[in-house]
Amino acid sequence: MFSRQKKAQSISEETKVIDRNNIPAHIAIIMDGNGRWAQKRHLPRIAGHREGMQTVKKVTIAASDLGVKVLSLYAFSTENWKRPKDEVSYLMQLPIRFFNTFVPDLIKHNVRVTVMGNIDKLPKDTQKAVHDAIDQTQECNGMVLNFALNYGGRDEIVDAVKNIATQVKSGEISVEQIDESLVSANLMTNMLDEYEDPDLMIRTSGEERISNFMLWQLAYSEFVFTDVHWPDFDAKTLEDAIIEFQGRHRRFGGLTK
Ligand code: FPP
Repeated sequence: MFSRQKKAQSISEETKVIDRNNIPAHIAIIMDGNGRWAQKRHLPRIAGHREGMQTVKKVTIAASDLGVKVLSLYAFSTENWKRPKDEVSYLMQLPIRFFNTFVPDLIKHNVRVTVMGNIDKLPKDTQKAVHDAIDQTQECNGMVLNFALNYGGRDEIVDAVKNIATQVKSGEISVEQIDESLVSANLMTNMLDEYEDPDLMIRTSGEERISNFMLWQLAYSEFVFTDVHWPDFDAKTLEDAIIEFQGRHRRFGGLTK
């Protein structure tokens, strides 16, 4: 009985179509599974990251075509420095490779690049590639492609607390003025204006945790976890995740939508 029901459910899910009038404005993705994708093919882990970079290109265009306003991608966390030196140095080269080959396409699709994270700690050539991409796409007013690079949600909150404490200490604001919007305004997503909080968070490769990603901003986001490894993620799996999102009833703690 259970399996028949399950089969019926999966068939109906397969036949569901995306509602183009209800596309999540901000999608955040934890791109996981590059290493396992490579391992399954007896390839070095960096081959998974290289393929993962190609996926970033495809998914960026797919999201932009669907009318997504902000796509936030977790490319390197504050914890990723613990990986072997060779892997870290490869991951640091990826933004350079990506932007060197892809900025013209980003401009063609009117996509603007933003970055959140502690960029100053990245190698100089990576910093340059990032800053160049931000400058070269600054006139684009379509989707925002927001990379999290050397980013940690707790780090971000600690920095916001320090900023606010400094403002209180200098008399610029009073303790009573501290509220949710002031905290939000002191986070790295402040530049995303009304789209600072993701509507949908996707994590690939079967892991079901948020790993220090956008801790404050994900408070009311819908989470979709897929077993697909990031290099195999594509426009179709993105659409499937959006369809799942569209089947959810977001109540934001209230009783109605
Ligand atoms: C997690 O997979 C992935 C990362 C830590 C790196 C993500 C980076 C990319 C997808 C490429 C980024 C591209 C640009 C343009 C910056 P994992 O290595 O933890 O996989 P595993 O859990 O299977 O080992």
